[in-house]
Amino acid sequence: MTPERQLVVEDDPKSVGSEAFRTLRTNLQFTSPDRELRTVLLTSAGPEEGKSTVSANLAVAAAQSGQNVVLVGCDLRKPVVHSVFGLTNAPGLTAYLTGQAEQEQILLPTRVKGLRVIPSGPIPPNPSELLHSRAMKELLADLAQQADLVLLDAAPIIAVTDAAVLATLVDGVVLVLAAHKVPRDVAIHAKTLLERVNARILGVVLNGVRLDKKRDQYYYYSEGS
Ligand SMILES: Nc1ncnc2c1ncn2[C@@H]1O[C@H](COP(=O)(O)OP(=O)(O)OP(=O)(O)O)[C@@H](O)[C@H]1O
Ligand SMILES: [Mg+2]
Repeated sequence: MTPERQLVVEDDPKSVGSEAFRTLRTNLQFTSPDRELRTVLLTSAGPEEGKSTVSANLAVAAAQSGQNVVLVGCDLRKPVVHSVFGLTNAPGLTAYLTGQAEQEQILLPTRVKGLRVIPSGPIPPNPSELLHSRAMKELLADLAQQADLVLLDAAPIIAVTDAAVLATLVDGVVLVLAAHKVPRDVAIHAKTLLERVNARILGVVLNGVRLDKKRDQYYYYSEGS
């Protein structure tokens, strides 16, 4: 995705889009009043539905509300998180998971106060395997100790197993669906794949809903609503 223009929450805080991300952040908190919700995975049915855009803006919105946030680039096949924040993609998560970097080296501060980012790192030959590792599990547990919210920007759930693997390691999953683009049966299939691994689906973000002739809206529906 083209960087610079992605962070509506930072660039245009009074816009409808920014307000939608603040609402999403608040809704996530209310989704789980009794159970701790520290690690949240964002995935979608297919490619280019807005996972990276939504996770980056949600991360900024949460940091702006005073939370200590870590955004992890877990789409190892399409590393973009670093570019949104003008950071380098190395060493990143892949280097950490292969034992080539320490946690301090991959956890990068951003210009947004309270928000740190772990870039995906160089594209590895075996993304699913790396994400399925003990090192990944321990890293998430560790991040959950140090942050209020850990957001994982993941690959789409239908094409590869990466997101399903990660879904088993997090407290909850948000499904980002491109409105007007994803067929109903495909969206349902994505949900089924998540349910199959007993993921806790927190809700769905319908990205790109058009309302009152305005474009580029973001909507959030919680499960069951
Ligand atoms: N609500 C929106 N309005 C307009 N453009 C959007 C919106 N959401 C995302 N985009 C654009 O759509 C493209 C894909 O978005 P993004 O990279 O966030 O999706 P993704 O699901 O992470 O894709 P990938 O599967 O490639 O990782 C980007 O160019 C982004 O700028
Ligand atoms: Mg992406």
